Amino acid sequence: MTRSASPAAANARRVYIKSFGCQMNVYDSQRMADVAGQEGYAETDRIEDADLVVLNTCHIRERASEKIYSELGKIRELKQARAAEGRETTLVVAGCVAQAEGREILRRQPAVDLVVGPQNYHRLPDLIARARRERVVDTEFPLEDKFDLLPVASREAVRARGVTAFVTVQEGCDKFCSFCVVPYTRGAESSRPSSKVLDEIARLADAGAREFTLLGQNVNAYHGLDESGRATDLAGLLQRAAEIPGVLRLRYATSHPLDMNEALIQAHADNDRLAPYLHLPIQSGSDRILDRMNRRHTAKDYLSIVDRVRAKNPNIAFSSDFIVGFPGETDAEFQATLDLVDEVGFASAYAFKYSARPGTPAAEAEDAVAEAVKVERHAILFERLEALRLAFNHATVGQIFGVVFDKPGRHEGQLIGRSPFMQAVNATVPADRIGEMVDVEIVEVKPNSLRGQLVAAA
Ligand code: 5AD
Ligand code: SF4
Repeated sequence: MTRSASPAAANARRVYIKSFGCQMNVYDSQRMADVAGQEGYAETDRIEDADLVVLNTCHIRERASEKIYSELGKIRELKQARAAEGRETTLVVAGCVAQAEGREILRRQPAVDLVVGPQNYHRLPDLIARARRERVVDTEFPLEDKFDLLPVASREAVRARGVTAFVTVQEGCDKFCSFCVVPYTRGAESSRPSSKVLDEIARLADAGAREFTLLGQNVNAYHGLDESGRATDLAGLLQRAAEIPGVLRLRYATSHPLDMNEALIQAHADNDRLAPYLHLPIQSGSDRILDRMNRRHTAKDYLSIVDRVRAKNPNIAFSSDFIVGFPGETDAEFQATLDLVDEVGFASAYAFKYSARPGTPAAEAEDAVAEAVKVERHAILFERLEALRLAFNHATVGQIFGVVFDKPGRHEGQLIGRSPFMQAVNATVPADRIGEMVDVEIVEVKPNSLRGQLVAAA
């Protein structure tokens, strides 16, 4: 993450924030940085300089959670080394591991001073002050709306974060997929009022942000109230966001198939700021597994959404998430996933090995798939998805599309930005065009990016 330049004196207190997991955590980390900034902490990307260290954690799979404990072990040593020099360090665990494990974290890692759940970041000033005297856990779901109480980012902080911005519009989930911890860690589904979201976008755009991703665990379930107390759906919100001066491109993530309403499908034809890209997780191509996952849709339902969106916008690229080795998954059921992958032709997608999460219904299943089988299926699916991704990338060669360049690339004179389809694009473009929508022709495919050439204005 880009760090803002320190406006404070050399001896100012410093905060280091490390984000794990999803984009929602990246957004939350920025909001925490804004809180810390208000409390006099300047951001640093050097952990050894930090008086306040925050790990914003992810609980989605076992590996993600365990990584936190090894990270905390290293920070403990750092904290001891700083203490030997007479410098205090306050160590905070935030995010979904904090919410899920609470006090257990204090038990497992004595160096932790504060455990704070995602709904309580507005209380950080008070919590940090208390944590300097005693060990504190705050994982209550508060009655007040944290978004009303969190400070807004300064213009400098927005600028330092670049022209791409995240805005959380919806949090939590009521879907209760049988494998997933999100309904427990992030709580019940709720939407921010549309005027507050639109004000935040306008403020970010005014400070220079140009490409916006509207975030939610179930973003297309968005139903925030507007000024007259009526519910606005995501398509309506995207339309109003598109009208805000400075907003050049809009994206949204992550969606559930059940909430792809007609208006949102139509938005992919009508909203000229909306990127032709849809991240729509399906998890499995087998109806029996989808049922056991409590997804409440079939593979056919999913394919019909894909068809309907493509009918509105033939250029749209699809992305998805898959879980392999869900309890009871047979070879034939895994094959159904591969078949669905081929049928849709995803531009990019993520494959995960099933990981049993404490407290979720699927964790109780007695027909777990052997780890070796999971590893093998994951490798097969990964390879298939990778081949599709490369084919999609190659198919963009010769195409011209708009890219909002975000920051300098690796080579002198190059800038880097995202294609409409989320591919990284490098091109030789004058630095003063950062933040503009620039037409580039794709000329080369690299392993993890595309090379583009500026198209001269006619
Ligand atoms: N095991 C493996 N993958 C999971 N995901 C969510 N929970 C689990 C789990 N228990 C994956 C899903 C989801 C993505 C964010 O993480 O594919 O869409
Ligand atoms: Fe988890 Fe399912 Fe909700 Fe997505 S829709 S956050 S996978 S419970």
